[in-house]
Amino acid sequence: MARIIATLMFIIGFAFAGMLPASAQDLGLRLPGAEALQGRNATGGAQTLEDILARQRAAGAPTTARDDAMGNAEALVGPLETRGGASDSEIWSMLRHGTADTIVSTRQARDAILVQDSGMEWLKFRAGPLREYGGYLLLGTLGLLALFYLIRGRVRIEGGRSGVRILRFGAIERFGHWLTAGSFILLALTGLITLFGRVAIIPWFGHEFFSPLAIGSKWIHNNVAWPFMLGLVLIFVMWVLHNIPSRHDLVWLLKGGGLFTKGTHPPAKKFNAGQKIVFWAVIILGASVSASGLSLIFPFEIPMFAKTFGFINELGLPGFFGLDALPETLTPHAEMQLSSIWHAAIGFLMMAVILGHIYIGTIGMEGAFDAMESGDVDLQWAREHHNLWVEELEAEGRKGAAATPAE
Ligand code: HEM
Repeated sequence: MARIIATLMFIIGFAFAGMLPASAQDLGLRLPGAEALQGRNATGGAQTLEDILARQRAAGAPTTARDDAMGNAEALVGPLETRGGASDSEIWSMLRHGTADTIVSTRQARDAILVQDSGMEWLKFRAGPLREYGGYLLLGTLGLLALFYLIRGRVRIEGGRSGVRILRFGAIERFGHWLTAGSFILLALTGLITLFGRVAIIPWFGHEFFSPLAIGSKWIHNNVAWPFMLGLVLIFVMWVLHNIPSRHDLVWLLKGGGLFTKGTHPPAKKFNAGQKIVFWAVIILGASVSASGLSLIFPFEIPMFAKTFGFINELGLPGFFGLDALPETLTPHAEMQLSSIWHAAIGFLMMAVILGHIYIGTIGMEGAFDAMESGDVDLQWAREHHNLWVEELEAEGRKGAAATPAE
């Protein structure tokens, strides 16, 4: 019974409310006592309708109530700041600009940041230019490689295969290479799925398909990062001495490595200048992508950008390019957002370099893949692409010694 009466009262109240205007001001009515109700006392010191209207007219509004409530009116009266009395919007504004005196029950300073609006910038950049230009970079690289293949064709062993094999990479070198290569390929694919899934997979295959794929990709990405880093260390230790720049590299570069003209074979030791570029790109970009990746795997534990920006500012680089100094104070959240963007951008750059590398190691050059497959290469191939290395082996009496690891 009580329920029926309550329901009837609710319906009647609702009908009356529907008949009444939303507020007296809407109709320009002056109800008895309306003046008093519009006063600041009626709002408990919060902003009034007059304040809001004054702000919309850009006419300014009294700040006394806000001053009383917040005590820092100075920070809030700039042209872009809210001009109303003490209000929710001001509280949100103070939270947003980090000026609110927030008390949290954890020991982490980051938890006191309740609003961090550069998150929107991060989201927009990640969903916009990062995907767009990253995608263009990869597609552009594939396009250029296809064009190069159409124009130049496969780089052949011009003197023909000799039938004599020499050992180029021992088992440990090939293990280091394939550990790095295999894990990088997995990281690249799962990274691309994570970044492009929402726009490239969900519209075609739906959420049910993407959900396990995204969870699996994240798992693979987080765990395969470790063998990748191990591989990086291995190839660095094994090959760094062979990749120190030398005077032959300049000649090699000036002649385009002989890649663009048939019959040209600039001198090279174990690694030519092109390979040295690949090596250092893999090491430097790989170290950078690993560092930013670690800071993502261990959130808030490895902030790097504020310090790096401080170092760059000290070098005077922004000033040199006529730019403002980089921010040296960053919220923990901004550090994470920068890590995420940097990680993806460096990842894209590395993928582009590696696409070129995979091309030349497979269809682009006859006889190259053998070096990383069985470990030995045809002597004529080695003479054409690494003549100084062959001379070194000959001087050591190791020519044709396929069973002896070549250094
Ligand atoms: C299917 C993928 C790949 C293939 C077929 C491949 C093939 C090769 C071959 C044949 C060589 C030896 C070249 C020579 O004898 O002079 C080589 C070297 C090398 N690879 Fe790979 N590779 C692949 C992926 C990768 C990846 C993903 C990385 C690193 C992230 C990488 C890093 C290197 C480095 C640093 C070298 C030594 C420098 C150079 O030769 O450019 N490779 N690779």
